[in-house]
Amino acid sequence: MKKLDITTSLEVYDSVQELSEELQDLMKQAVEVRDQAYAPYSKFKVGAAILLDNGEVVVGSNQENASYPSGLCAERTAVYYAGAKYPESRILKIAITARSLNQEVTKPVPPCGACRQALVEYEVKQKEPIELYFMGETGEVMKAASVSEILPLVFDSNCL
Ligand code: THU
Repeated sequence: MKKLDITTSLEVYDSVQELSEELQDLMKQAVEVRDQAYAPYSKFKVGAAILLDNGEVVVGSNQENASYPSGLCAERTAVYYAGAKYPESRILKIAITARSLNQEVTKPVPPCGACRQALVEYEVKQKEPIELYFMGETGEVMKAASVSEILPLVFDSNCL
């Protein structure tokens, strides 16, 4: 028997102002799309903005449904849109922000497990990491240098 320790390394910024201008702009686009999310059931609005290597930004917000499981998270809405519209492009960065209509979200909101799995597929496909920046409505921004950083023991095509 041997023991395997897995460590995750993240960077934490005090606020969005600590990010580069390019990233602040990407986060701004995530905020704009977040506020238009369709989240009448959870009242938890999420926005994601993806920067592609062709310079385009693709955005997505969570889309809920009266049949709850039929809804989709912001990150998957965005990444599938990017995959559909720019199938040949690489994803460089994704900015994610969440806001609740019930209380102020002051802690970074990371992508859910299903979104991590969806995102890592593109990281494997493009053979280059996707940088993630995620935050609440205010407060700290967390950066993960790649999706695999926050999804250790990944299940990907190499497992098949
Ligand atoms: N949600 C996202 O959009 N992204 C995540 O990574 C976590 C959760 C959405 C799904 C649902 O519409 C609402 O937030 C509450 O779970």
